[in-house]
Parts: sequence; C-alpha cells; structure tokens
Amino acid sequence: MTAATSLELDRIRADFPCLDQEVNGRPLVYLDNASSAQKPRQVIESMRQVYERDYANIHRGQHSLSMRATAAYEQVRGKVARFLGTTNESEIIFTSGTTAGINLVAQTWGRRNLRPGDEIVLSEMEHHSNIVPWQLIAEEKGAQIRVIPMDDRGQLDLEAFAELLGPRCRMVAVAQVSNSLGTINPVAEIIAMAHRAGARVLIDGAQAAPHLRVDVRALDCDFYVFSAHKTYGPTGTGALYGKMELLEAMPPWQGGGDMIDQVSFTRTTYNVPPMKFEAGTPNIAGVIGMGAALDWMRQIGLDAIAAHEHRLLERATAAISEIEGIRIIGTAEKKASVLGFWLEGAHPHDIGAILDQYGVAIRAGHHCAQPVMQHFGLPATARASFAVYNTEDEIATFIEALRKAREFFA
Ligand code: ALA
Repeated sequence: MTAATSLELDRIRADFPCLDQEVNGRPLVYLDNASSAQKPRQVIESMRQVYERDYANIHRGQHSLSMRATAAYEQVRGKVARFLGTTNESEIIFTSGTTAGINLVAQTWGRRNLRPGDEIVLSEMEHHSNIVPWQLIAEEKGAQIRVIPMDDRGQLDLEAFAELLGPRCRMVAVAQVSNSLGTINPVAEIIAMAHRAGARVLIDGAQAAPHLRVDVRALDCDFYVFSAHKTYGPTGTGALYGKMELLEAMPPWQGGGDMIDQVSFTRTTYNVPPMKFEAGTPNIAGVIGMGAALDWMRQIGLDAIAAHEHRLLERATAAISEIEGIRIIGTAEKKASVLGFWLEGAHPHDIGAILDQYGVAIRAGHHCAQPVMQHFGLPATARASFAVYNTEDEIATFIEALRKAREFFA
C-alpha cells in the first residue's frame, strides 16, 4: 500500500473544518491526535442530521422517528463488528469509551471470576484507565496486581511476562499501542501465552484502533476496547468487544432501562448481550457519528492510513534526533504515531506553551501513564502524535518551532 499522495492529502484535509484555521496568527498544526482526533465533516453532518431529522429515543417507539433512529444506531453495531473483525454483532457493546469498557469488564467479569489471591497482570506502560479499574476490583476481591516490566526503549519483557503467568493469573490486560511511548506491543504473542496459562486477555485498543487494522478473531483476545473520539468520531462513544460465551456468563454492570427482560419487586431477569450491558438511553447521535467515522476511515483505507502515519513518524523521528538536547522517550522497534520526547533544561509544559505560539498543538504531561514517567525518571514528557491528515510540511513546522523553543532555553 502506498502512502497518501499530496493530492489525496488535500482532499482528506478538506474534510476537516477544524484544521482550516490560524492559531496565534499561524496555520494550525494539530499534533495532539493521541489525545483526540479532529472530526471530518461526514461525522459532523451525520450527527447534525440525526438531531435535525431522525432524532427520537431508540428501542422504545413504534413511531417513525424512533424506528429511524433505532435502525441508524443498530446499523453501527455491524460497522463496529466489521471494523474489529468479528461477524457476531451481539459481541459489540456500545460504551462511552475505552475507560468505560475496561471498567465494565473489571466490574462484571472481575467481580464474578476473581477470588482472593488471584492475579491480574498489567504492563508497566499502561494508561491509568487500564490500571485503576483493576486496582479497584483487586482491592475488593483480594486479588493481586502483577506488572510486566519494560526495557528502556519501551518494549515489554516477554520472558518476565512468562514468569508472571502462574496458576493464579486470571486476567492479562495490556495496551496494543502505548499512548505515551508509541510502542506496538506483540499482543498476538501475549494473548497466546496468557491463554496457555489459562488466563483471559483484555486488549486496550484506544491507541491502536486509529492506526492499525484490528482483527479480534485472529488475535483471539477475550475483550477489546476502543474510543470513537480517537478514530475521528465524537467524544462519549466507543465499544467493547467480548467473546459471546464470556458476555453471556457475566453479570450486568449498570441497571436500568433496556438491560432487563422482566422486572418485578421480587425478581428481575436480564436481557441478552449486548443489551444486558447497555442500561439507559445511550449516546444515540454519538454512536451514529462513530459509524460515520468508521465509514470515513474505511473509505480512506486502514492500510493507507497506517502507511502514511508511519512515514510521518519516521520523518519526525529523524528530524527531532538532529536537535541537540533532545531525548526521545519510546524508541521501540515497532511504533505507531507517537513521538514522546524530553528537551534538556525545559519543562514539557513550557515547550507545549511555546509551540502553541507557533500554532503547533502537542500534549505535555504524564499522559495518564505515571508509571512510564517513573520508569524514565521524568515528571512529564512532550508528545507529538500524528493522524492521517498531517503532512510532511507540518512536521517541518513542528521541528522548526521546537528549534526555536530550544534556543529560548539554551
Ligand atoms: N489517553 C489520551 C492521551 O493519551 C487522552 O492523551
């Protein structure tokens, strides 16, 4: 697959109204995509249409608007299923995002299956949203958290992982791509190793789904989660994939409308998956917007997106390496779209503020991955992260602004 041509990039960029603006008198260079991606007009338009023409509550009405909204909402389940690589739409649960998906699994699968002394294996590079939900349920159930260490390039130590896979290990939860380091983890191998030890596996796909082709059936993971807002869709939506036999055996999480079969004051029975896990009126327009975002990505081509972003990452990595005083944080052999760095003598927050003066948006901070910062002995890093609409000219602008920032601190 070839990388996007400049002509295609012009067309792609034209889909994103937000990119066409100046910030502090300079053309916006948006390199904070790992935080959240901008939205194409197809997504904005799909949500506008719902609210202007097709809006009503779903699964409840006999009237035309409700039936239209229900059909549009449920159609997205199939789109997400295809996007993740399952043929069973009922294995797709709509959530408010990755965080909600992980909490759902911890609070349902975890509450049902964890016993005192059981072990949950996480990795050192997890986002807080794949740490804290497990700590909460571990504390409640008397389970232990064990951690796969990483090396100084930001690569997991699979030999150490093998040692952690003892008879009490019940769950392995790891990111497919690290949000702070960009490392692409060998999740197929991790899943196979965990399964041989009898453990279940949850893959945090928040940073992978926007950049890599996902195939949950080929991976054979038990659970997979992602957020729509990083895949060019709206905030407040996302999905959890779970193997059907696991979803069927899990208790519900939140109680409310739609997740029930029969309710009385003496006994309540529950709906089947996915409805069992979708209590209350969901984010109807958001889910429809997520469907439009996945359509948009499919139309561009997932492999073309990955190839283009890979080229940007390589260019940016080569260029930033030339700047004196820069230390790249995250130098794994396999990386996607994230360039974390530390500039000697400058706090990342100051770098972020100076780059903003040049119209360049990056993120600076601990990236909700404080154990990663602890590993590298840093309070924070600066992070540029790329999306399909970014250009090589934008990389040049970013590097030029970073050189100016460096002069400021020299
Ligand atoms: N998890 C998002 C990030 O890495 C917010 O920036």
